[in-house]
Amino acid sequence: MEIFTSALLSSSLLLLYFVFTDAADNITQSQFISDSNGTTLISKDGRFALGFFSPGNSTNRYLGIWYNKLPGTTVVWVANRGTPITDSSGVLLVKSSGSLVLVGQNLIVAWSANSTKKARNPILQLLDSGNLVLREENEGNYLWQSFDYPSDTWLAGMKLGWDLRIGLERRLTAWRSPDDPSPGELSWGFEVHNYPELVMKKGSKNFFRSGPWNGNFFSGMPELQATPLYNFTFVSNNSEVYFMFEMIEKSAITRAVLNQSQSEYQRYMWVEDKKEWSIFLYLPKDKCDSYNLCGPYGNCIMGESPVCQCVQGFKHKSLQTWNPEEWYKGCERSKPLSCLDKTGFDKLSGLKMPDTTFSLLNETMSLNECKFRCLNNCTCIAYSNSDTRNGGSGCAMWFGKLIDIRQMAANKEDANSQNIYIRMPASEQAVKNKQKMKVILIAVVAIAVVFGVLLIPYCIRRRKT
Ligand SMILES: *[C@@H]1O[C@H](CO)[C@@H](O)[C@H](O)[C@H]1NC(C)=O
Ligand SMILES: *[C@@H]1O[C@H](CO)[C@@H](O)[C@H](O)[C@H]1NC(C)=O
Ligand SMILES: *[C@@H]1O[C@H](CO)[C@@H](O)[C@H](O)[C@H]1NC(C)=O
Ligand SMILES: *[C@@H]1O[C@H](CO)[C@@H](O)[C@H](O)[C@H]1NC(C)=O
Ligand SMILES: *[C@@H]1O[C@H](CO)[C@@H](O)[C@H](O)[C@H]1NC(C)=O
Ligand SMILES: *[C@@H]1O[C@H](CO)[C@@H](O)[C@H](O)[C@H]1NC(C)=O
Ligand SMILES: *[C@@H]1O[C@H](CO)[C@@H](O)[C@H](O)[C@H]1NC(C)=O
Ligand SMILES: *[C@@H]1O[C@H](CO)[C@@H](O)[C@H](O)[C@H]1NC(C)=O
Ligand SMILES: *[C@@H]1O[C@H](CO)[C@@H](O)[C@H](O)[C@H]1NC(C)=O
Repeated sequence: MEIFTSALLSSSLLLLYFVFTDAADNITQSQFISDSNGTTLISKDGRFALGFFSPGNSTNRYLGIWYNKLPGTTVVWVANRGTPITDSSGVLLVKSSGSLVLVGQNLIVAWSANSTKKARNPILQLLDSGNLVLREENEGNYLWQSFDYPSDTWLAGMKLGWDLRIGLERRLTAWRSPDDPSPGELSWGFEVHNYPELVMKKGSKNFFRSGPWNGNFFSGMPELQATPLYNFTFVSNNSEVYFMFEMIEKSAITRAVLNQSQSEYQRYMWVEDKKEWSIFLYLPKDKCDSYNLCGPYGNCIMGESPVCQCVQGFKHKSLQTWNPEEWYKGCERSKPLSCLDKTGFDKLSGLKMPDTTFSLLNETMSLNECKFRCLNNCTCIAYSNSDTRNGGSGCAMWFGKLIDIRQMAANKEDANSQNIYIRMPASEQAVKNKQKMKVILIAVVAIAVVFGVLLIPYCIRRRKT
């Protein structure tokens, strides 16, 4: 990967020239963008363009943003996704109050956007980041921005997630088909519960889960970590939950897309030498990434046959472990557990953390207190540190069945791998202790015998003298 990125780097440096064009990057309330006379906005450095286009083989017209300097039309954002204009009558206007209106034939509104407050001198501007922003002429704050309403593409600087203060969700949704940018089935965004994680959905069904953030990466997708070209930021607090990437090597060109036909999140890099986009990584990456493939307490292990195994201390519920149609049944405890039983915890390593829908997070609680709290609440099934950095901190607790667990591939992250402690009957421990006692007893007897063998002849010799 290192070699690959440096090759990309050297080839993309060739793009490090800035084209200053006469084309405007903005319009104000007296101006408009019209399809019939082909007007566009071009961002200051010429990287992005806003205008009308027809996708694939369709003749429908859409207002969108694409890479201006690259061959082909790689669209990154679409305004009227589900309401195409069927001829070239489309016009985009900035209203004096600060709203944006896209009208088609007979001035029927195909799309509109409202600013957060009434504007005085609104200006609509396409930025070099690919963000289309509406702001007051002499102010920096955005009244509206396209980055708040993603289509299928994640660009650098774009927050994927929630602004909890206003209930705004920024979620990627795939195009229905290459000819139709209307929202498809596949989407990718944060599930906001106490312990947030990214979930890819097909319709309303979970399809792939990132696992929760562990301070360095999401436990189920270590792939999404910083490269020499870009880095990642994860924020989760009372006002915001988001994930974002930013360019370190500003001349490199990269985007991530939700792909409906492949059912994938794909990161593309532009390779200037070849003049084409190249897929850098994709998710889900293998069978074990399929959401909850192995059912409750199942542990999906690539390379095992069948891939669906059980978490230590559990056994398959179905006898037909070879039958993929039975995998969803998952596993059950080898020894049943009731609330009245004395319990302890088994430490497991290298697992993708279970689904966090029914979990609690406390970033300041110590692991010891975490264990104590979990132990004293019979519905708590497991706990772990929530942050693996600097020897571990924070507390996550899981309530109810543990689902969507997999064995992560052995990799360099193993050093600070997130351990999870799963509730087990105390007798399991007692059995282990009994075995330990046996070993100690045998050792003591052995030592005694050896001493005896050495000592007896010695004593006999002493008596003789
Ligand atoms: C808007 O575009 C014009 C070019 O048409 C340019 O002269 C002006 O500086 C731009 N305004 C801003 C705020 O960038
Ligand atoms: C641009 O389009 C608008 C609206 O369709 C029209 O009124 C105007 O005359 C056109 N201008 C040019 C230069 O074609
Ligand atoms: C457009 O149509 C051609 C010919 O029917 C087909 O080969 C091609 O795959 C289509 N492209 C898209 C993007 O649908
Ligand atoms: C924008 O605001 C106007 C007036 O407040 C309202 O009628 C309209 O529905 C709003 N449009 C959107 C897209 O929110
Ligand atoms: C949430 O995190 C963001 C980014 O670090 C920060 O700007 C903001 O002040 C935080 N909000 C709260 C309520 O902690
Ligand atoms: C990521 O890179 C950007 C741009 O170089 C920088 O401003 C930011 O602080 C970096 N963020 C992290 C988390 O390293
Ligand atoms: C989806 O993936 C296929 C195969 O990799 C590719 O041909 C197609 O262009 C991708 N679609 C999008 C929207 O990126
Ligand atoms: C988190 O744990 C700390 C330490 O036990 C405690 O003081 C704090 O109240 C807890 N926070 C929440 C939100 O429960
Ligand atoms: C156990 O934890 C759950 C989830 O936080 C909570 O709803 C329940 O009241 C707790 N039970 C006890 C006995 O503390």
